[in-house]
Amino acid sequence: MNHKGLDKSRLPRHVAIIMDGNGRWARLKGKSRIEGHRKGRASVKAVVDVSRTLGIPYLSLYAFSSENWQRPREEVGALMGLLEHYLCDEQKRMMKNGIRLLAIGDRDRLPISVRRVLEQTIEMTRDNATITVTLALSYSGRHDIVKMVQGIARKVREGSCQPDDIDEALISAHTETSTIPDPDLLIRTSGEMRISNFFLWQIPYTELYMTPTLWPDFRRDQYIQALVDFQKRRRRFGKTDDQEP
Ligand code: IPE
Ligand code: IPE
Ligand code: MG
Repeated sequence: MNHKGLDKSRLPRHVAIIMDGNGRWARLKGKSRIEGHRKGRASVKAVVDVSRTLGIPYLSLYAFSSENWQRPREEVGALMGLLEHYLCDEQKRMMKNGIRLLAIGDRDRLPISVRRVLEQTIEMTRDNATITVTLALSYSGRHDIVKMVQGIARKVREGSCQPDDIDEALISAHTETSTIPDPDLLIRTSGEMRISNFFLWQIPYTELYMTPTLWPDFRRDQYIQALVDFQKRRRRFGKTDDQEP
């Protein structure tokens, strides 16, 4: 694989992606929005494959937000159907390639058929260790924070934790992403400059990469370009350029 200018020793540990622009891609091609979502699957495959072969250990994909439930019923149904098929079709490849699947978000809102295959895939892949792919489904960053506050409040009420014990590590441990590191790079396709309720607590020093490319057109080369761009950034974490990183 040709990785044009990529330094393999300085890859992000965790890449998160807001996969946006399927509808606009479809409109440009005179196709249905559903066709756009279908086409986006090849982009998912591309970013998973590139991440895995490069050795990026965590990849998180925002596939469906809590707000996306407000879309027309046919579109939601089609997205759920695509998700179910994706999971069924990919199980073998996930096992072959050492992909561990995780899911974050309100799983209870997903149709039972999707939940079933999702849970089966998570269980099946639990010991895979090459890459952890986290699907954000019916996810809301604010809801994640609400659940975290509720969890900690319950512990305080039970007496197993005091208000002064609450620190950043305890908060992180009560979010849905407790087992994965904060993202180093957040990519959003389709030119929108917003987070749309994806990770909120998790991205204080995440590098942002917004590209006008629509998700179905975001493939291997576009992803490598995002990684090359990431490597040009100087992450100061509040310090000056002259200080040690
Ligand atoms: C992203 O593409 C997929 C989901 C949000 C499920 P969109 O469907 O949002 O595409 P646009 O933004 O309408 O082009
Ligand atoms: C964000 O895309 C959610 C996902 C990509 C899953 P949207 O298309 O829902 O975002 P907005 O509505 O343009 O902010
Ligand atoms: Mg969109």
